[in-house]
Amino acid sequence: MDGSDGDPDRAGDIDDPIVVAEAVLDAAAAAAPEIRAGLPGRRRYLDDENPSGEDVLAADVYADGLLEEMVGDIDGVGTYASEERESAVDTGDGAVSVAVDPLDGSSNLESNNPMGTVIAAYDAPLPASGRDLVAAGFVLYGPVTTMVAGVGAPADATIHEFLVTEEGDREDLGRIDLPENPTVYGFGGRVPDWPDDFAAYVDEIEDELKLRYGGAMIADVSQVLSYGGVFAYPALESAPDGKLRLQFEGNPVAYLVEGAGGRSSDGARSLLDVGATGIHQRVPVHVGNTELIDRLEAALSEVRNR
Ligand code: F6P
Repeated sequence: MDGSDGDPDRAGDIDDPIVVAEAVLDAAAAAAPEIRAGLPGRRRYLDDENPSGEDVLAADVYADGLLEEMVGDIDGVGTYASEERESAVDTGDGAVSVAVDPLDGSSNLESNNPMGTVIAAYDAPLPASGRDLVAAGFVLYGPVTTMVAGVGAPADATIHEFLVTEEGDREDLGRIDLPENPTVYGFGGRVPDWPDDFAAYVDEIEDELKLRYGGAMIADVSQVLSYGGVFAYPALESAPDGKLRLQFEGNPVAYLVEGAGGRSSDGARSLLDVGATGIHQRVPVHVGNTELIDRLEAALSEVRNR
């Protein structure tokens, strides 16, 4: 895909953020076979922590290096930021800023469970609002390597699943719309660390849905996109802003789930409307079917307003 929408005048126009965004998604797909092939020998932890205080695997550093090279090379991308780096890298003249979680859920590598790459392209300097996204996607290293992605302003984006071939090309498998009858939920954090209002919400929905939690955000969000339901890494008593990062994780999954017809929330508003204050800023993340997120927001405000 070249982002030209069939219009030859548009192909290769680096001043068009949509063209640049398509190239960013293509680069993430092109990097996928190499990232995947590099995993078996990189399951060991390095003696290092990332800017969020998480232990770093050799695979995290490898994927980050490859993506910086491939995404940074794209004309029109001016900034590359990653969860693995303290500061963003200047990659040239270009209005598009790319924020990447090179291996989301990489702690799953030790146990050989799914994980992947999250990618967000903003037509703005970082930290940026989710409303400035011009593309978002993730590559999922599951039994099959796939990408789920959309291009365009959040209000216009449609979300598609792609097969990522061994050559790193994308084959469109069709549009994703959240199933109307949701079946799964998955929530992060230790249960005793959940605030009472969130725990009250869980009490309600665990009667209706079945638990599916695997510990890698994109794999868990992929279950929600496939089966319908709700994923959350909520505010915790010990961490009121939760665990996940707005620029690298919250905004792109909000874009994808909202584009598939669902909702996202920090507990009160769409994640795309949360003010950006820093590259590594954390935010409580709740995404899923609209009705389930509406009920979540009602449950949180009910207890908070008592
Ligand atoms: O961002 C890191 C991450 O691995 C997410 O992919 C995932 O949702 C979360 O952390 C898992 O955290 P925990 O180990 O607390 O369940």
